[in-house]
Amino acid sequence: MRVKQTLVTTEQIEKRVKELAEQLNRDYADITEPLVLVGILKGSFMFMADLCKHLTIPHVVDFMAVSSYGHSSNATKASGNVRIIMDCRENQQDRDVLIVEDILDSGHTLDYIIKNFKARYTKSVKTIVLVRKKTELTYPVSVDYLGFEIPNVWVVGYGLDYAEKYRTLPYIAELGE
Ligand code: IMP
Ligand code: MG
Repeated sequence: MRVKQTLVTTEQIEKRVKELAEQLNRDYADITEPLVLVGILKGSFMFMADLCKHLTIPHVVDFMAVSSYGHSSNATKASGNVRIIMDCRENQQDRDVLIVEDILDSGHTLDYIIKNFKARYTKSVKTIVLVRKKTELTYPVSVDYLGFEIPNVWVVGYGLDYAEKYRTLPYIAELGE
């Protein structure tokens, strides 16, 4: 298995991530308590790192690990329910929360996380997603901030993996046959 073609270059990612951060700086300009950024591990780690470098609003960084896909031969197939592998550390009650997600495919994962966070008495829950696949979303989840639309293919790089491989590529590429 190898990488087929680059879909989003390093330069495109850098430019778009900066734009998204500037949008957040405007939209959250009046917040009183720091914004709680919750990155969904492992896929969001690069996006989170680059995004928060451009934030000028008060914010704290937190992470949560979830799993909804298997490994090896099953790596591109959903394996049922979403599981929280590791929860956040920050308190979210009465706080503005921004969920930082790498990719939206069926929407299953993000749908679960949004519902879960609303049950934590947050002040607000919004979502920022780096890439969204062009599919009919099975779950109608709302994406407040979106980086890129991509075709419905398996992609790797910039945090995204195939069975833990290719995660640290500095660009997003389509996986080969
Ligand atoms: P969803 O629940 O179907 O929306 O899938 C979301 C999760 O599946 C993401 O958080 C990723 O971890 C993983 N995923 C979905 N599509 C891809 C892909 O093309 N490459 C790598 N991971 C993916
Ligand atoms: Mg993910």
